[in-house]
Amino acid sequence: QHVLIAFGGASPEHEVSVISAMQAASALKDSGLELLPLYVTKSGRFLTGPQLLELESYKDLKTLEQTALPCAFQTDAMGRTVLTETRKGGLFSKPKSWPVDVVLVAFHGAEGENGAFQGLCEQYNLPYTGSGVMASSVGMDKKAAKIMAVSCGVPVVEGIDFREYEWVAGRDTLLEQLLALDSTVVVKPMQLGSSIGVEVVSGREPLIRAIETGFRYDARLLVEKAVRPLREVNCAVLGNGADAQASVCEQPKGAEELLSFQDKYMGDAGKGMASASRIIPAPISDELTTAIQQASLKLFRELGAAGVARFDFLVNDTSGKFYFNEINTIPGSFSFYLWDKSGVSFPQLMTKLLDIAVA
Ligand code: DAL
Ligand code: MG
Repeated sequence: QHVLIAFGGASPEHEVSVISAMQAASALKDSGLELLPLYVTKSGRFLTGPQLLELESYKDLKTLEQTALPCAFQTDAMGRTVLTETRKGGLFSKPKSWPVDVVLVAFHGAEGENGAFQGLCEQYNLPYTGSGVMASSVGMDKKAAKIMAVSCGVPVVEGIDFREYEWVAGRDTLLEQLLALDSTVVVKPMQLGSSIGVEVVSGREPLIRAIETGFRYDARLLVEKAVRPLREVNCAVLGNGADAQASVCEQPKGAEELLSFQDKYMGDAGKGMASASRIIPAPISDELTTAIQQASLKLFRELGAAGVARFDFLVNDTSGKFYFNEINTIPGSFSFYLWDKSGVSFPQLMTKLLDIAVA
């Protein structure tokens, strides 16, 4: 089987995607599967070349952008989809082609996670890991995801969303509404991940500044009441439809950071990250754990998600009430550290994702 590992992308989460892809490649290295990389540069160019799966650090990417081969999907004479080199070699040289049986989608954010790349795979009849087009798009949009959660009876935090032109036209009225929400609010770009552009603010001036910063990332923002005292709890779900299962819960420590590639993610066979930045299982009651696992399963099924997805919740540590925060249809590192603690090893997780994709 030829597995195309797709990663990078024109997304602010480009670097996180490189880490997830290197981890996936390393987990699959003894699988006997033929691994082929598809690296999408920040400017959206498709590149390939075996050296792309042996990256030691981000710095390698710069060099590789020059040495790797530009490529594209194509349908060959037999009607199969192949990845083909697109740069003209010598006058008589034929472009090289590689067969693709399944795509392991390791993008985070933007076109790689919002259904666009998934749609490209559909167009080329390529099986791919993770959620389909609809679940990916709904999962990427915080408002659409909240509406879906409410429809499933899963509570969400009260908030107001608006577009940049609404802010420009009705700034003062909007500000009054936002300030009336709560003394502390959270400003979020509607479609970004990894906490990029997210700010917790109190008071008028900081709120204005956070909104203006937010609009640099997205043309739509969501401002929500801040849950206090806050405990974040995440839960992953693996499978497809009826056979989906929930993982143990994690409590991420503090804000997610873009940790350094080498030291934090790849160090100690990728285990470093797991122990450094999260508590597994989350130190919460059994009742809350079960409720969060059940809500995650319900959301996964309602969304029609597939493969592995992570559901992030906000817990009010005083009342114990929990709120659905967001869905990640391609969670960082595929949430392998949660499955590891749930009896599914990283190689098994990857194999399962590929099996679901081709089933
Ligand atoms: N969007 C990042 C990768 C995550 O939440 O896992
Ligand atoms: Mg996220």
